[in-house]
Amino acid sequence: MGQELVWAVTVISMAVAAGVFAWVASSADRALADYHPAVAVAYRLRPWLFGAAALILIGANYRAVEALPYVSEPGRGAPQRVDAVGEQWAWTVSPNKVVAGRPVEFHVTSKDVNHGFAIYDAGLRLVAQTQAMPEYVNVLRYTFTAPGVYRVLCLEFCGVSHHQMMAEFTVVPAQSAK
Ligand code: CUA
Repeated sequence: MGQELVWAVTVISMAVAAGVFAWVASSADRALADYHPAVAVAYRLRPWLFGAAALILIGANYRAVEALPYVSEPGRGAPQRVDAVGEQWAWTVSPNKVVAGRPVEFHVTSKDVNHGFAIYDAGLRLVAQTQAMPEYVNVLRYTFTAPGVYRVLCLEFCGVSHHQMMAEFTVVPAQSAK
């Protein structure tokens, strides 16, 4: 009984849909005639709209590149090397203390699969990131200006405990370096 009802509903729906298609197809020629003037206007506007869209996109891209979080102050002094190794599912970051104002070179790699090495400030704003790849070392240069506790999170889905890949390191003020 249930099956027959479903079958009947299906057949009726298909018939209605077919009727709608047939009606649209038969009235398409008439409708198209009304559209010709509108289509002509659209074709004349098209290059201008395309130009405007291109200008807006180029402008937006330019602004977006300026706002990228990856550009940092060049910093002064010898770079501080930090080794960062990702594995399922943890980060090893050593040393876990760097000095503000001096460039830091993160040497980032992975023991197993690809991970995303992403550094967040105390407000969880992304400040820099690179890939952690097996058998390859990515060097990420960044100069921290604000002291504080920074967090490393994984930005590449790498398995069930991806979300637990967290580490912390501290950026200390320049004057307390020694
Ligand atoms: Cu490592 Cu996600």
